[in-house]
Amino acid sequence: MSAVPVREGEGAGAPRSPREGEAGPDVAVFIYGGGKVGRGLARAIRAAGLPVTLRAARDGLPTERIDADLVIVAVRDRDIAPCAAALRARGLVGHRDVAVVHCAGALGPEALAAVRGGRVAVAQMHPMISFASPSFAPALGRGHLLVDGDTRAVLVARSLGERLGMTPRAFPDLDRVAYHAAAGLVANGAAALAAAGVDLLERAGVDRTTAAAMLGPLLRTVADNVEALGVPEALTGPVRRGDAAGVARHLETLRRLAPHLVPLYVAAGATQLPLARALDEAPSAAFDAIQRVLDGT
Ligand SMILES: NC(=O)c1ccc[n+]([C@@H]2O[C@H](COP(=O)([O-])OP(=O)(O)OC[C@H]3O[C@@H](n4cnc5c(N)ncnc54)[C@H](OP(=O)(O)O)[C@@H]3O)[C@@H](O)[C@H]2O)c1
Repeated sequence: MSAVPVREGEGAGAPRSPREGEAGPDVAVFIYGGGKVGRGLARAIRAAGLPVTLRAARDGLPTERIDADLVIVAVRDRDIAPCAAALRARGLVGHRDVAVVHCAGALGPEALAAVRGGRVAVAQMHPMISFASPSFAPALGRGHLLVDGDTRAVLVARSLGERLGMTPRAFPDLDRVAYHAAAGLVANGAAALAAAGVDLLERAGVDRTTAAAMLGPLLRTVADNVEALGVPEALTGPVRRGDAAGVARHLETLRRLAPHLVPLYVAAGATQLPLARALDEAPSAAFDAIQRVLDGT
């Protein structure tokens, strides 16, 4: 199958070049990889009014040169370097100025080294956004986009991010693996916590679909609190209030209804304690009592 223009009537052909530092309307985008990120970005870019062509990796690289200002390599991390090598070897880019970026959080622009040089500038362009399904595009607005690499590619990627309502970010000497571990801990840890919450709500008497529907908005308020208030201020609940009896009641019920969730509850409680102590809304003795409850003493 050939490349599929996402926006009808607009391919990636003959676009003008973006002007420096500008969220110009004329950045033509080619996305290679039709997974969760590829499709999510394609939808957002199309909604922003930019021409975008999406090609699934299972269809292979195109046979004709790619005419785009920005090529987004949205394949799995281990496939990025081979993809860059193939783009170069087959002469699919380099005939015009182009930025080639990948979306991995843990890899820098060097993952695209094989295609870099001449008219090809490369960059890392990592959206700190959770894309969970190719058929459900998350909102990108207010999200952050880590961009690092060659100046020209960085300018193109930053302008795209701004066009999508995102804040481009750059950090000198960033430990990318730690950065990516933090993003994964929060996004995937939250999804796993939600799964535990659905499990517990079911045991409490709420059906599974309703449980997920109720927990989503709860998580959204947590997200809003983290964004608006920061931490530790986003913490709520019995640990913050120094309510050792409340924590003990939770644990008793969990031991009865869902013993497999007790270690998770204890670990989450232990992680909350230093935050609650920092907030200082209860006597220190109350937090010591919570620690003893969590320790099971
Ligand atoms: N998911 C996130 O939340 C997220 C967030 C930020 C950055 N990223 C980064 O974005 C990049 C792409 O991640 P992704 O989440 O979009 O990965 P993904 O959904 O697994 O898709 C990536 C590639 O894997 C292929 N693929 C998916 N399922 C397949 C299957 N069953 N058999 C064969 N191939 C299959 C897709 O092929 P087709 O193209 O043929 O469909 C696609 O090219 C990665 O570098 C990742 O680190 C991900």
